[in-house]
Amino acid sequence: MDSPNTLAFIGGGNMTTALVLGLQREPTPLSVMIAEPSDLRREQLAALFPNARVVADNREAVRHADVVILAVKPQVLPDVARDLRSVLSHQPLIISIAAGITTSRLADWLGENQPIVRAMPNTPALVGSAATGLFATPRVDASGRDLAERVLRSVGLVTWLEDESLLDAVTALSGSGPAYVFLLMEAMEAAGEQLGLKSDDARLLCLQTVFGAAKLALESEDGPARLREKVTSPGGTTQAAIEVLERANFRELMEHAMQAAANRARELGGDET
Ligand SMILES: NC(=O)c1ccc[n+]([C@@H]2O[C@H](COP(=O)([O-])OP(=O)(O)OC[C@H]3O[C@@H](n4cnc5c(N)ncnc54)[C@H](OP(=O)(O)O)[C@@H]3O)[C@@H](O)[C@H]2O)c1
Repeated sequence: MDSPNTLAFIGGGNMTTALVLGLQREPTPLSVMIAEPSDLRREQLAALFPNARVVADNREAVRHADVVILAVKPQVLPDVARDLRSVLSHQPLIISIAAGITTSRLADWLGENQPIVRAMPNTPALVGSAATGLFATPRVDASGRDLAERVLRSVGLVTWLEDESLLDAVTALSGSGPAYVFLLMEAMEAAGEQLGLKSDDARLLCLQTVFGAAKLALESEDGPARLREKVTSPGGTTQAAIEVLERANFRELMEHAMQAAANRARELGGDET
């Protein structure tokens, strides 16, 4: 049997924890190294992942890796990436999950010949339910795409994009999206309390409603518009509420909000070095 692929995670924070947990659930093992500067965090990671090697030195982790996952904050990524350049001559697949950092800037720091995949996952990765957009540079071959997909699929669904600039739209939709849903949940819960429900009841009913609606939409052949029509009887309670939302231009508001997120993603990608 071929030896398993070796993955080096640079940065042992939330996303690395989610990804390594996801990969542990896979039937075929991957060999995992994690590089993390904090002593305390390294101890925690070693206890959580006894089969992984946890080291302090990024270069040591990368030297023999087949895949390098860059999982540090975007602000520290330029220095981290430049420092790795001299240990990348074996051309491992690079997967960057850093928000907003383009593959051309990564190639400037890491070297022009590196095969690079950019991934935009979201926080539900922490519970294995991420939605991730992926983009690969032309240097990534089919097996590199498969490997990248395997890593990100371990925490949820993935979709490939042919145009890197669409990652700004992914950031606006699924990257920031969980926060829009949390805001909706806050508002529904508060309104439920206004209508007289106890706060515990309002929370439980709200959480299960959002979960149930998402599950129904995922499992149904109908799109959200048709599902909404089906639960909206003419002259009924749902219609009364939907009319209030439509009159307040709910759709236009969401369009403006996501446009603002996409614009911000573009700005951050351009000036954060
Ligand atoms: N969280 C999300 O939902 C999400 C979604 C999409 C993309 N992302 C991207 O994923 C990346 C990681 O996010 P996260 O939430 O996992 O952040 P995080 O929890 O802060 O993890 C980053 C880790 O990197 C470590 N680190 C700092 N400097 C380092 C260095 N020079 N070398 C190696 N490791 C270093 C940090 O250690 P210290 O704490 O000791 O500094 C921390 O443990 C970010 O670029 C973010 O944009 C996150």
